[in-house]
Amino acid sequence: MMDTKIWQANGHTQSLKEAAELLRNGGLVAFPTETVYGLGANAADNDAVQGIFRAKGRPSDNPLIVHIADMEQLDGLVEPYPPLARRLMEKYWPGPLTLVLPVKTGALSPLVTAGLPTVGVRMPDHALALQLLRQAGCPVAAPSANLSGRPSPTTADHVADDLTGRIDGIVDGGATGVGLESTVVELVDEGTVRILRPGGVTMESLAEELSNIRIIREGLLEADQAPRSPGMKYTHYAPKGELCLVRGRPSDVTAYINDKLMQAKAAGVKTGVLAFRERAHRYDTADRVEDCGSERNLEEAAHRLYGALRRFDDEGIERMWAEGCVPDGGIGEALLNRLAKAAGHLIVNT
Ligand code: TXA
Ligand code: MG
Repeated sequence: MMDTKIWQANGHTQSLKEAAELLRNGGLVAFPTETVYGLGANAADNDAVQGIFRAKGRPSDNPLIVHIADMEQLDGLVEPYPPLARRLMEKYWPGPLTLVLPVKTGALSPLVTAGLPTVGVRMPDHALALQLLRQAGCPVAAPSANLSGRPSPTTADHVADDLTGRIDGIVDGGATGVGLESTVVELVDEGTVRILRPGGVTMESLAEELSNIRIIREGLLEADQAPRSPGMKYTHYAPKGELCLVRGRPSDVTAYINDKLMQAKAAGVKTGVLAFRERAHRYDTADRVEDCGSERNLEEAAHRLYGALRRFDDEGIERMWAEGCVPDGGIGEALLNRLAKAAGHLIVNT
């Protein structure tokens, strides 16, 4: 067991300094970003990066995203990249977009890229994160700061629940904003971008920004056949109980879930429902209802999702249903993608 320090980073640069020094010298430090909390390690330090995999229980063939604070840092990490990548950086950095770029040989621990010739890089849009990265002065590899298979952490408490005793420290910067991870993209050629993971930067925004570029993406709901992004083949964000994603018209979804709730109750099973505010009051048979906010404000739902899944775990909920009638567009795509993953692709169409 390690002693895990917690720094309340309410403007005290002294505490960030300590965290930054630890990071630079091979420690494992969790920190907030605008998406979710990351578990950081010096990306050039092989032992430190190995520590991330150990602390999380993460499979070693799943590469890590490298976080940078400024463009000068990038030049040391990657080979010359196409103008299209530059365009995306100018538009979205700092922000929730991870770009998969050709990695410079020897710049990073090979564990970061899991042996791939590419590296995922992003510049987080979070003042504390940027300050920490600047003070550390090294590229920082950081996956989400959860135990592998658990929902990503959106508060320092979530990180502490999973990783206390396994990492050196946690910078507490309060709740994260977006609540879902960054969008991961790769550049297929000068005229094509592939979305490997939907996230904080929406398809619509990319399509508008890249009007002359073809944007392709993986299926959002089906289990991946031959995943291009290694991370996609693993079960992610799984709650401890069994979660079913229920798709269809809202009225059918409500009817289906209530039917199942009744059966589960008769069997003495502890139940939970993840619902939009418009219908949350219709599931009073459930032992726990998590209200994600209005279906007209999907940003709110994205912000709440992982916390809600963790609360089901805390309450010992055995079976859960999530309303899958998520309106199209915007962050809804990423939301549905994470729900499907959390459900382990147990999806019902009513
Ligand atoms: O918002 C985020 O991206 C958060 C915060 C902490 O920055 N990080 C995060 O990291 O979600 P992680 O490790 O949980 O997810 C990284 C994803 C995985 O799906 C991984 O397979 C993919 O990015 N990835 C990383 N490097 C890649 C590469 N070279 N090629 C393709 N996919 C890559
Ligand atoms: Mg993750």
